[in-house]
Amino acid sequence: MNLLAAELMQQIKQRPRRNRKSAGIRAMVRETQLGVEHLVYPMFVQEGETDEPIETLPGCMRWSVAGIAEECRRLYGDLGIGCVDLFGVVPGEKKSADGAEAWNEQGVVPRAIRAIKQAVPRMVVMTDVALDPYSSFGQDGIVRELEDGEIEVLNDETVEALVKQGLCHARAGADILSPSDMMDGRIGALREALDEEGLTDVSLLSYTAKYASAFYGPFRGALGSAPKKGDKKGYQMDPGNAREALREAELDAAEGADMLMVKPGGYYLDVVAKMREHTHLPLAVYQVSGEYAMIKAAAAAGWLDERAVTMESLLSIRRAGADMILTYAAPQAARWLREEKGV
Ligand code: PBG
Repeated sequence: MNLLAAELMQQIKQRPRRNRKSAGIRAMVRETQLGVEHLVYPMFVQEGETDEPIETLPGCMRWSVAGIAEECRRLYGDLGIGCVDLFGVVPGEKKSADGAEAWNEQGVVPRAIRAIKQAVPRMVVMTDVALDPYSSFGQDGIVRELEDGEIEVLNDETVEALVKQGLCHARAGADILSPSDMMDGRIGALREALDEEGLTDVSLLSYTAKYASAFYGPFRGALGSAPKKGDKKGYQMDPGNAREALREAELDAAEGADMLMVKPGGYYLDVVAKMREHTHLPLAVYQVSGEYAMIKAAAAAGWLDERAVTMESLLSIRRAGADMILTYAAPQAARWLREEKGV
């Protein structure tokens, strides 16, 4: 070092690296924590007796009702995962224009809720409320076909259907209903219907800012639920918009939502941070199927360190302001968190 440089160095009084100098100090000053209690595991349940892997979501399964209950016992007991989010997978012949299978009391989701609650009473059971897995159009709501061959998703008719679906899940014992459809007014309508039936303890986690994202591809592959016609831009949000998310947040809060959500996660952390500043409600973020699949694919190719990248992506979502994270990586992350703690 020449003399001038050495003199300059002596003038440095602020040395932020002092707070990074050992693992012990780094741990003390870490601003954000990730724990298993922040993780929600999205799971798929189907008719029949077989549990089968999902090609587009490596590591995830389409479970039978018995299989999902057994798996929940392991998730809760061995890994400490405390909340699962259920999606129903139904075969083509059970899909219809109005998605009526969505509120069949003997359908695969209400049966799974009952089975999980029986096997692991303390597991928090959340269910997805939307018609797309049940709709022959692959749309989240009730569809009207227009003369020019296009389609339109009808808001108010859809809200009526979602209320039937939500009540069906709540009666079966769901703790949290999670409407992912983006219709206007569905939170208020669900709250009112639940309260009228005395189901006042059932919570609503609203997909408040759900974007019309191409990152849902692997999920739609898992459910066979891709739109048969058109897209979802008439109800899911434009990826260019952030202020609109705050407007949705205000409406959901006023309608009685207990928790809000931003989805997808990693590419929308600015929206998460804004939302965190504007609401007092707990905030969830969904790390969606495409985000998960990208990490899996890059890791399989040997291009990324799966464990390090997964944990960094989850910590970043927490840092942006998420209280809880829905992620397909929940079981792996739970295992890695255990290893870090040495248990
Ligand atoms: C549908 C729904 C979707 C997801 C959750 N609920 C897909 C969609 O809107 O088309 C996506 C989840 C994911 O990609 O992991 N109501």
